[in-house]
Amino acid sequence: MTREIRTFADIEALSEASAAEIVASARESVSARGRFTLALAGGSTPKRTYELLATRHRGDIDWERTIVVFGDERFVPPDDQRSNYRMAREALLDRVPIPATSIHRVPSEAPAVHEAADGYERTLRNELRESANDPTPDSSRTEAHTVDVALLGVGPDGHTASLFPNAPELQERSRWVLPVAAPMHVQPSVERVTTTLPFLNAARLAMFLVAGADKRVVIGEILSGAPAGRRYPAAMVAPSGRAIWMIDRSALPDDRSNA
Ligand code: 6PG
Repeated sequence: MTREIRTFADIEALSEASAAEIVASARESVSARGRFTLALAGGSTPKRTYELLATRHRGDIDWERTIVVFGDERFVPPDDQRSNYRMAREALLDRVPIPATSIHRVPSEAPAVHEAADGYERTLRNELRESANDPTPDSSRTEAHTVDVALLGVGPDGHTASLFPNAPELQERSRWVLPVAAPMHVQPSVERVTTTLPFLNAARLAMFLVAGADKRVVIGEILSGAPAGRRYPAAMVAPSGRAIWMIDRSALPDDRSNA
């Protein structure tokens, strides 16, 4: 795995570059395999990237051939202010011609979080199976990919998706989706449904969008490659494909902010 670091003056520049990278992956995926599969991130950082995809780049993606899933979700109804799906719908999905049947959200209206996770596991396994849609099967491929692009954020504690430091979910080796108890130290403190390391590490491209001074310590430790940095869930995402870290200057430690 190669970890490519790109740094930006501010979140606007970061968002422009991220949207352009998503467009490039979408084109490549559609031409190679007939479709583009994208896992969206929650939190606040990706919102501007989503808006740029819905406006400046609206005509640059073949939305008819795009499939959208979610890397994690808060266990709140889909129209709740805290819902990652709601944010993505308002910033992006309602504004582009993607078929409703190509958007696969976490069923967060299920009676219990484990039921939502089980349902989403089935959905992802069904929808992301590649062979049926792969016009040019690559016989040298040794492992199946999950999505073409997985967008991810990083929390100030080093979490990514809803994989929190020291959580038992980090040990998962086979499931793609798990329920998560409400974190005590992270807002919103509600139960979550998250994709797992086996899912994220099988993405063709994992792209982290990181902005804000509250990430500075954790980003410094992760980029240093020191053992302390390796225990953060975000640092455990090591896809068989590529990983790109898009970081704005405010999230960089002082010794790197001139980069
Ligand atoms: C969520 C996320 C989470 C997020 C990070 C960064 O549901 O909260 O998916 O992993 O990406 O907490 O969030 P910000 O972009 O708001 O800093």
